[in-house]
Amino acid sequence: MNIVKVKDYDEMSKKAAAFIIEKIHRNPNLNLGLATGGTPVGLYNYLVKDHQKNGTSYKHVTSFNLDEYIGLSSENPNSYRYFMDKHLFNQIDIPKSHTHVPLGDTDDPKQQCQEYENLLTEHGGVDLQILGIGSNGHIGFNEPGTSFQSTTHIIELTPSTREANARFFDDPNEVPTHAITMGIASIMRSKEILLLISGKSKKEALTQLLQGELSENFPASVLQAHPSVTVIADDEALGKS
Ligand code: GLP
Repeated sequence: MNIVKVKDYDEMSKKAAAFIIEKIHRNPNLNLGLATGGTPVGLYNYLVKDHQKNGTSYKHVTSFNLDEYIGLSSENPNSYRYFMDKHLFNQIDIPKSHTHVPLGDTDDPKQQCQEYENLLTEHGGVDLQILGIGSNGHIGFNEPGTSFQSTTHIIELTPSTREANARFFDDPNEVPTHAITMGIASIMRSKEILLLISGKSKKEALTQLLQGELSENFPASVLQAHPSVTVIADDEALGKS
């Protein structure tokens, strides 16, 4: 794992944007894996600024998001599709048809998982996957205990994850109980991974990622076995401030 140490959230976001922009310039047809949550918002702001200022184009980029809440439609402001449209897709030139987020408001979530996994395979997989990390080590919505062999699947969210994500909802009871997430094996198939970690609340998770053993009880530990992972972590996450 290549660890890039930065001062703060803003520097992490800027570095991450530069990393992605460089990859797109090298390969305009990039298959880009995207994440939601508070962590990548700054990164997306920088991608939008660069698109407006320098014209980096996403016309030939295809995107795949990690996960979606079950039961939320794309019009629901708490859905990850809505989040991505708002923070990124509506502000760059990526064709909507090139953007993929699992469908959360489907009658058959199991079928949706299979279709999403097939879609990933049909496109030849993700070239660069952006990841955040939950304080319990989850990646995507792969909670502790998820099999390292898992492909896209339905997951029941842990109380701690629902609580952590309640800050985005008006009422904590509105946080869905289940989600569709790319599996650990799906994530590990990405050719390259960029993991962003910022803030005090992620300090223990980062320590465990760097020093802990490979274990399904800490999903992010699987990244130790991936050949091409870059972690951008700020001082607070590194325990330096
Ligand atoms: C969420 C998302 C993850 C994200 C993580 C951390 O539940 N499903 O993809 O990385 O939790 O979120 P945040 O960046 O808000 O701390």
